[in-house]
Amino acid sequence: MVDNFPHHIAIIMDGNGRWAERRGLPRIVGHRAGIKAAEKVVKASQDLGVKILTLYTFSTENWKRPKKEVSALLKILADFLRKDNRHILKYNIRLKIIGRIDELPSALRISLSRVIETTKNNTGLIVNLALNYGGRLEIVDAVRKIARDVLKGGLLQENIDEEIFSRYLYTAGLPDPDIIIRTGGEFRLSNFLLWQASYSEFYVSRKLWPDFTRRDLKLAIDTFKRRERRFGGVV
Ligand code: IPE
Ligand code: IPE
Ligand code: MG
Repeated sequence: MVDNFPHHIAIIMDGNGRWAERRGLPRIVGHRAGIKAAEKVVKASQDLGVKILTLYTFSTENWKRPKKEVSALLKILADFLRKDNRHILKYNIRLKIIGRIDELPSALRISLSRVIETTKNNTGLIVNLALNYGGRLEIVDAVRKIARDVLKGGLLQENIDEEIFSRYLYTAGLPDPDIIIRTGGEFRLSNFLLWQASYSEFYVSRKLWPDFTRRDLKLAIDTFKRRERRFGGVV
């Protein structure tokens, strides 16, 4: 759909650690505050009529962090999904995930599959969590699946085009994000949606993720509405 509303918003939720450090608190406190911010942004997205919200929650590179931070972060995520199931149902949200899910701790995988199963027929906002997600790995995984299908004879090499390739990505069936918002002030993709971001508008907020509010989301949407998207053409 080409109009001036961002139907698919993707967010690089960055700055939890700095938010906590500035308060002299452990980084994990920032991650907890980050979940609260995510909850508010999910509700705001639903109210504003966004169709898909992709949230960069844990990257394939984030395993490099201290083990304690990684396990605490994945645990609070699993706990949240287990306890706030009902809230998600109430808002008619449908949960999806993109990433190497089989490499996540089992408690988190169980919580995720439960919520995905219970929300699969919901018709409201799609919340798409990028978890153990890496853009390069996603492309490599797609190439592997394509090679397998070509070898099996189910796919002809000469038929592979951008459309077919997209169907092998974790995001198969989802439109590309209209806008990618990054909080925390840094101007980089950090391996997020490399293929899908080709024509996304980029918006950086200096606010740290736990401080990002409904108003900030509205501001990003309003900025998007004023952008002129040319997709390589002339207007
Ligand atoms: C983003 O916040 C959350 C994750 C990457 C999991 P950070 O933890 O990266 O926060 P900063 O960038 O160190 O402040
Ligand atoms: C990107 O943030 C990943 C997530 C928000 C999940 P990082 O904090 O990992 O990115 P870098 O290290 O600053 O590039
Ligand atoms: Mg960061």
